[in-house]
Amino acid sequence: MNPVTTSQSRRLPRPAAVPGLPADFRWGVATSAYQIEGAAATDGRTPSIWDTFCDVPGAVEGGDRGDVACDHYHRMPQDVELIAGLGVDTYRFSLAWPRIQPGGRGPANGKGLDFYKRLVDELQGRGITPWITLYHWDLPQELEDAGGWPARDTALRFADYAMLAYEALGDRVAHWTTLNEPWCSAMLGYAYGVHAPGRRNLGEGLHAVHHLLLGHGLAAGRIREAAGTNPLELGITLNLGTATPETGSEADREACRRADGLGTRLYLDPVVHGAYPRDVVEDLAAQGIELPVQEGDLAAIATPLDVLGVNFYRGALFSGLTEDGSPTDADGLPVTRAVERDLPRTAMDWEITPGELTDLLLRLERDYALPTVITENGAAFDDTVAPDGSVPDTDRTAYLADHIDAVAEARARGADVRGYFAWSLMDNFEWAYGYDKRFGIVRVDYDTQQRTLKDSAKWYRDTIQLTRNARTD
Ligand code: FCB
Repeated sequence: MNPVTTSQSRRLPRPAAVPGLPADFRWGVATSAYQIEGAAATDGRTPSIWDTFCDVPGAVEGGDRGDVACDHYHRMPQDVELIAGLGVDTYRFSLAWPRIQPGGRGPANGKGLDFYKRLVDELQGRGITPWITLYHWDLPQELEDAGGWPARDTALRFADYAMLAYEALGDRVAHWTTLNEPWCSAMLGYAYGVHAPGRRNLGEGLHAVHHLLLGHGLAAGRIREAAGTNPLELGITLNLGTATPETGSEADREACRRADGLGTRLYLDPVVHGAYPRDVVEDLAAQGIELPVQEGDLAAIATPLDVLGVNFYRGALFSGLTEDGSPTDADGLPVTRAVERDLPRTAMDWEITPGELTDLLLRLERDYALPTVITENGAAFDDTVAPDGSVPDTDRTAYLADHIDAVAEARARGADVRGYFAWSLMDNFEWAYGYDKRFGIVRVDYDTQQRTLKDSAKWYRDTIQLTRNARTD
């Protein structure tokens, strides 16, 4: 049971050109502000909900916190050099709202903006395209104190902050993502309490969903208007998976409908089609939950986008029965149970399912027809440092290779997927898991802040280069 893949259980894949990717396919690496920057109280930054959450005993593994993280705030130019050395053309990073607009209201903080202006300068000076995410989970604490995402006002505050950022950087940056994984912000943060701010209330979680999407739509609309005829590639990034029924039974298919409804359609239907899925709304109503939609909200949420960011880590198999065979749980609600499969796993205990990335991309093409970019994909494994200082992370390398192949396969079968960003550039603060889980293709020694390319980083660099060189068009 539970076959955990241990580091080095696979042979290192040889770098080779990935067939079928177009010349302008984007290759990138991704990070987020709170996970790497540190400098939590520097140059006017105020606390976010994650700074507060890290103070809660037991909330984060080992009592870890993001105060220093990878100290990227002070090492940014060297880190950009590292990125350039990988040969990627795009760097996806997020802006810290409490750095740019401390407290979440009022004017911009010049010093906070300056950091990101310098980062953009460094990147563009090396020919790397900056891909900005406006919100990767670090809500200013003051806005949480005023109600957080379950409160409608937070959506309006987010749109104002987005404009401060766009006004400062929009003349040079064309790629803007509003939110990273609103499912995680809403459900992990407000419904299940395992992420900041740690509330446990399903109704509040669903209100947060609507206000995150409203914030997305209002920000997207204002950015689009401000951009005028300037180049703009506007999007949202969602964490998406697949839902496969364990058997062909009606109960298992129903479980998949519910999982897909709450995980995927609840976000993509309003964003792309301007309406919440009726079956999900009915399921929620049966639990006494109503989305707080006001007139005009859905039109704002459906502001046209140029690209859909897809974060993919795994697909899942679902059953509509408890392990004891009952169709309802202790609260009398229909069962949606993820069933463990006999598959290799990462150090997060996540099943490794590259074929399901192909399935997902084909499904997105069919149901939503937006160009996609894989804005995150990668894996945590328990790395070891060899006596010569190298990091032979063959399992991570194999994970990346298999998923990049899955992207190429989806393209070959008609999915308009235009890029792939590895999560993550470097080991970092993995939220409630602290520093224990390493997702980087670059190792960070947290005592010395030394960065070391793992074998996966060298493989990624060589694969990108070989793929580019192989193109004849
Ligand atoms: C995603 C997050 C990212 C990182 C990876 C492992 O859900 O967007 O910050 O934690 O998972």
